[in-house]
Amino acid sequence: MRESIRRLQREAERIASKHPLPEFYTRFRAETAAARKLFFNDPQISRLRKILEPRYVEELGHGTFHCTRVSIDTATLLLIETVPQRPEASAVERLMTVGIFAGLLHDICRGSKDHAACGAREAAKFLTEFDLNDDEVFSIVNAIRNHEAFVSAAPRLDSRQWVQLTSDCLYDADKFRWGADTFTHTLWYMADYQDLGPRELIDRFPWGMSGTYSIIETFRTATGRQYGPEIIENGAEIGKEIYQYLLQHFREES
Ligand SMILES: [Fe+2]
Ligand SMILES: [Fe+2]
Repeated sequence: MRESIRRLQREAERIASKHPLPEFYTRFRAETAAARKLFFNDPQISRLRKILEPRYVEELGHGTFHCTRVSIDTATLLLIETVPQRPEASAVERLMTVGIFAGLLHDICRGSKDHAACGAREAAKFLTEFDLNDDEVFSIVNAIRNHEAFVSAAPRLDSRQWVQLTSDCLYDADKFRWGADTFTHTLWYMADYQDLGPRELIDRFPWGMSGTYSIIETFRTATGRQYGPEIIENGAEIGKEIYQYLLQHFREES
């Protein structure tokens, strides 16, 4: 990443750090901790993380940082969403593991056209190396295939409850990233990749901001619908401050 962009990213992180965490991350602190523990300690997950490290498309902002956060939030959402059904703890943990697999693999084709379908096909190749049953493999592949926003075809609904829930949790966890992460992370990788300077970012900012709001209507789980809008609005507040910072410091440049 260019040093000039890196400096702007640091400034964005400084601005973001002054904003309170969205309620999802304070109310479900225990669930997030359980998801993190699984993410960092499960042997199968550790093995997949190691395999994927060189495959991540970091320059598009959808590499390790993004996939780690999506994985942990997918598992957190699965833990929250399964509470009413009261499955056994071991079954929930297994489901969370499946969710983390989906999160780690979901953007494996991020640089390709139709990256969700491509990612689903690619993920299936990796999954043969792991101790997963056929339903779990299907669930991961299905979730990855259905994770893209605003596609014209409706996601294929699966009648199996856990398959559909995993898909919905992956989608919501990925779209939670349209909050603060857009402005502290993704934006700067995209700017660097597309060789954009501060002046061009200023021109594109209002358009980009309106795009992030549009995701609010698309959350798929009850938890996502309840807490997702605040995550997006929190990100937008951070974005507005970053926009002001750019205006103050770079408006006169051309
Ligand atoms: Fe994606
Ligand atoms: Fe993603």
